[in-house]
Amino acid sequence: MAILVFGGAGYIGSHAARALRRSGYEVVLYDNLSTGFRRLAQGFELVEGDIADEARLRPALARVDAVMHFAAYAYVGESVENPRKYFRNNVLGALSLLNSTLDAGVRRIIFSSSCAVYGIPERIPIAEQAPREPVNPYGASKLFFENALDAYSRAYGLRSVRLRYFNAAGADESGEIGELHDPETHLIPLALAASTANRAELQIHGSDYPTPDGTCVRDYIHVSDLADAHVRALQYLERDGDEHGGDALAINLGTGRGHSVLEVLQAAESATGRPVRRTIGPRRPGDPPVLVADPAMAQRVLGWTAQRDLTDIVASAWAWMQKDSFGSRTQSVRSFPYSRGSVFVAGSLLGQDQLDFDPANGGECDSRKERMSGPDSVGQTKIPEHDARNGRNQEGD
Ligand code: UFG
Repeated sequence: MAILVFGGAGYIGSHAARALRRSGYEVVLYDNLSTGFRRLAQGFELVEGDIADEARLRPALARVDAVMHFAAYAYVGESVENPRKYFRNNVLGALSLLNSTLDAGVRRIIFSSSCAVYGIPERIPIAEQAPREPVNPYGASKLFFENALDAYSRAYGLRSVRLRYFNAAGADESGEIGELHDPETHLIPLALAASTANRAELQIHGSDYPTPDGTCVRDYIHVSDLADAHVRALQYLERDGDEHGGDALAINLGTGRGHSVLEVLQAAESATGRPVRRTIGPRRPGDPPVLVADPAMAQRVLGWTAQRDLTDIVASAWAWMQKDSFGSRTQSVRSFPYSRGSVFVAGSLLGQDQLDFDPANGGECDSRKERMSGPDSVGQTKIPEHDARNGRNQEGD
């Protein structure tokens, strides 16, 4: 069985490509190399092309049985500054890809979605039925394509699995590939870089959140665990998709455990044996205080649970950075300018103060607030359970 991996020269796509090949699939990569890297595609057939180029897509799609779509821009801050770029590629380009896929008679698609579709969640951990109210154009673009898949599934019998990633990090155990972004904005590579001389110190984006230590909490998931989930999603479509027809499943991929920024820095220091040089800066607009997955559906439907923890993630990321002629990649580390004071909320602009949580009332918020507890003894931020089934916008509405 042959799979076309759109965005296969990118960070997550290249890991998924290897997981597919290890599971016996024939893999062809398709990438325009705008954010991907040729060396992440090494050892694979690479079709260089844009997802909006239907003439280029046609022959590639004619050779395959299923597709995986990773070819999206994915910088939240940049999407706030330049939404046009995001909607052009992540919506218009993605629709070309989808229509071409359908026209080629390919009926199975796995989509790289994001927890950004939930925006600022009402309940933690986040279940798939939680309201989808993205707070930036990136999340809105992912949600648009999810909805398109849903509609195509009903109308045309397309079978899809939308995988909503939480915070992907780490590197393939082979050491051949790992996290590679230009510019790099993600916490783990920047923290590791900040533990070495001559690298920029890390700026902590806000320490006044209503979390146990004041920094944001995220659910970090090893990229190899993510890659394995894609193989399982494909096997699900091969197995159960035919039976059910027209499936359009959405599944969270996370560990169900949250870690604060400070906990990640501690893990980075353990891995490198050196202090992470840091300063505390202001909040980054569009950052929800806490994002932690309810991974129950992935377990139930795909038989998948994350096998690796934060220590494994940071250790593999550090091994990759050292092997990957460490230093050369991080020369261009820079941040996108963020417009402070406003974020995109489902088509409107909200003032930053409307996103603030009120720890004075126990962290309980009227529409967008969570109750927080202190960190547990193993250094993992403990997030109390809520009834995650009470969300609005049930899946498949
Ligand atoms: N952070 C810092 N300093 C940095 C970089 C990050 O303090 O230099 C903090 C962020 O504020 C955040 C946490 O570290 O609290 C993680 O930040 P990342 O940039 O590594 O990841 P995000 O949580 O912003 O982004 C991830 C995915 C996106 C997805 C988003 C949903 O990478 O694709 O979650 O909110 F859209």
